Amino acid sequence: MNDAESRGEWALVTGSTSGVGRETALRLAEDGYSIVVCGRDRDRAAETRKAVESAGGRAVDLVADFTDPASVRGFIAEMKEAVGDGTVEVLINNAGGGMFSPTEDTTEEMFDAAFNLNVKAPYLLTAAFAPAMAQRGRGAIVNVGSLGTTAATAGTSAFQAAKGALMMLTKSWAAEYGPRGVRVNAVEPGYVLTPLNEHVRHMYGGYLAGVPAGRGAEPGEVAEVIRFLVSPKASYVQGVTLPVDGGKNAVVPL
Ligand SMILES: NC(=O)c1ccc[n+]([C@@H]2O[C@H](COP(=O)([O-])OP(=O)(O)OC[C@H]3O[C@@H](n4cnc5c(N)ncnc54)[C@H](OP(=O)(O)O)[C@@H]3O)[C@@H](O)[C@H]2O)c1
Repeated sequence: MNDAESRGEWALVTGSTSGVGRETALRLAEDGYSIVVCGRDRDRAAETRKAVESAGGRAVDLVADFTDPASVRGFIAEMKEAVGDGTVEVLINNAGGGMFSPTEDTTEEMFDAAFNLNVKAPYLLTAAFAPAMAQRGRGAIVNVGSLGTTAATAGTSAFQAAKGALMMLTKSWAAEYGPRGVRVNAVEPGYVLTPLNEHVRHMYGGYLAGVPAGRGAEPGEVAEVIRFLVSPKASYVQGVTLPVDGGKNAVVPL
């Protein structure tokens, strides 16, 4: 039995019905955390919960639509009821995504949905759970950003602006909660092979030519970095955004 298990601590992994979030949930369960699985899809949420349980872990599954702040508030209340108030030690703000849309075609509804999902939901969740972590003097938050916050791509401005805000919140929260024992960090994935981009894989040829790794990431490769940032191995790492992009960020193709 490891530390988290012996304390019965919960890790909330948003967007854990699929992709990076699902892989993160499985790894944090291996590390002894009880997992709150969530997404919009009830069946896939139950599937991740069962995968955690089959591996010997403990999980609950809840659903919410994070583009709707009322749904996030309902989720927080439901969660506190399900796992107890003040028991969350780890928060992974992973649920996210956005549409590809030129600025002039982006409606206010699309803009608001991008910010609600990628900024407001993490904000409400952090406000709900970080204070109890800080009171205990122990906790970890990892935000999942996107390569698109360091270098822009045409046609996805609202999403990139939202992820950019989330990366700034990583630093704000490190300043706010770090002195009270809560480490806040982020990962910045490049191209990850998940259902998120299945329908646009044909567009990534040119992108991959500039990736030293020469391929997209498996979701587990991002999840391992999140796991590291949560773990005591990263005890002196605070306020960073770690690229997990196969080197894309570091090089300029000739
Ligand atoms: N894949 C990439 O290339 C890539 C690159 C850069 C950054 N990222 C970031 O990595 C994170 C994980 O993405 P992924 O690639 O693992 O995608 P994914 O496989 O499509 O998973 C996305 C997860 O987020 C949840 N989610 C999406 N919209 C939601 C909403 N409105 N309310 C609640 N939950 C919602 C989904 O749940 P349901 O489907 O059940 O609703 C799902 O569990 C995202 O923040 C994404 O922006 C991904």
